[in-house]
Amino acid sequence: ATGLLGDGLGRPLRDLRISVTDRCNFRCNYCMPKEVFDKDYPYLPHSALLSFEEITRIARVFTAHGVRKLRLTGGEPLLRKGLERLIEQLAALRTHDGEPLDITLTTNGSLLARKARSLKDAGLKRVTVSLDGLDDAVFRRMNDVDFPVAAVLEGIEAAQAVGLAPIKVNMVVKRGTNEHEILPMARYFRGSGIVLRFIEYMDVGATNGWRMDEVLPSAEVVRRIHAELPLVQLDPSAPGETAERWGYAGADGRHDPALGEIGVISSVTQAFCRDCNRARLSTEGKLYLCLFAERGWDLRHLLRGEQPVSDEELASAIGAIWQQRTDRYSELRAQLPTEVGRGARRVEMSYIGG
Ligand code: GTP
Ligand code: 5AD
Ligand code: SF4
Ligand code: SF4
Repeated sequence: ATGLLGDGLGRPLRDLRISVTDRCNFRCNYCMPKEVFDKDYPYLPHSALLSFEEITRIARVFTAHGVRKLRLTGGEPLLRKGLERLIEQLAALRTHDGEPLDITLTTNGSLLARKARSLKDAGLKRVTVSLDGLDDAVFRRMNDVDFPVAAVLEGIEAAQAVGLAPIKVNMVVKRGTNEHEILPMARYFRGSGIVLRFIEYMDVGATNGWRMDEVLPSAEVVRRIHAELPLVQLDPSAPGETAERWGYAGADGRHDPALGEIGVISSVTQAFCRDCNRARLSTEGKLYLCLFAERGWDLRHLLRGEQPVSDEELASAIGAIWQQRTDRYSELRAQLPTEVGRGARRVEMSYIGG
């Protein structure tokens, strides 16, 4: 065993997010704008992708370093052929102290109605579904491929029916685009057992034309919901969590668990880098230490090079990379001088996953 690591700022490694494809069947403007991700976009060729065996091998090494949670992302992970087979392999892994891993997946929900059962059977524990509104016209405009909201809601119901719980729903809030969906979404999911989370629109990648005036601060989201559906702040459930939790209050003014909770993810107005324990593995096997990183560390090369490394060598390479990590982009963002010129080479969200 390798002994547990701290990075350059003393942060442990707990969460590995694995992107399994850089493709998606949606074109959400804040992530894969149509003008950029058109039919000529140079997606990765199949030979560049890590195989399921390679992913599992890397994930095993990460568990030895303290990882307890695996999240499959994309692009849209359910587009990767045979994904259930990867989940089966990952589900057989254990944490360094012998516990089962928390294995989850972030999906746009479009294929979930069809796949919920096989994902559950393969060993997936839970899912997070992205959904930016309930109004069909707003939703179709935001996914930009005219995909109907009803099909995503069916996917969420299917996930609920097979017990992929707790289900979370992520809504990216853009001022002027879907802010009017905040309350309908809150009403719809309140009391359903599903945790709705509001994400501040982030300046991730280099193609989405991000502007600060399109960010609706989470404090404002909470204020608007609280005005109609009273909320009380809840304690974090784990250190380094992305979301701040708010519970719906019952008649006595205290949190009523039957009504459930919401979360707000405030990377822009309230950075949470201090305890960030997340590493990201790209589809082609590069290790990224921050969502906003400009470069990754090529692990595939270690696996496929002329002199392939042993598991021990892979473990010590990954350990050395983590130990020198000092990334804390969201905390620094506030101090950067201008919006122009920063991040032109930042990696895209569709490539690295959420
Ligand atoms: P659970 O609470 O365990 O379900 O997971 P999570 O909150 O880590 O995962 P999820 O993928 O649902 O994260 C929600 C969203 O938060 C992502 O889609 C990103 O938009 C954002 N996010 C996640 N991790 C980070 C991070 O490390 N930095 C920043 N800035 N944003 C993040
Ligand atoms: N800002 C905030 N969240 C984003 N996501 C994608 N791009 C952005 C962005 N620019 C979210 C999606 C999904 C997850 C994959 O990341 O909505 O929930
Ligand atoms: Fe696809 Fe998710 Fe990006 Fe939308 S946010 S384009 S669904 S990967
Ligand atoms: Fe972690 Fe980077 Fe996000 Fe900060 S900005 S929380 S360091 S991934």
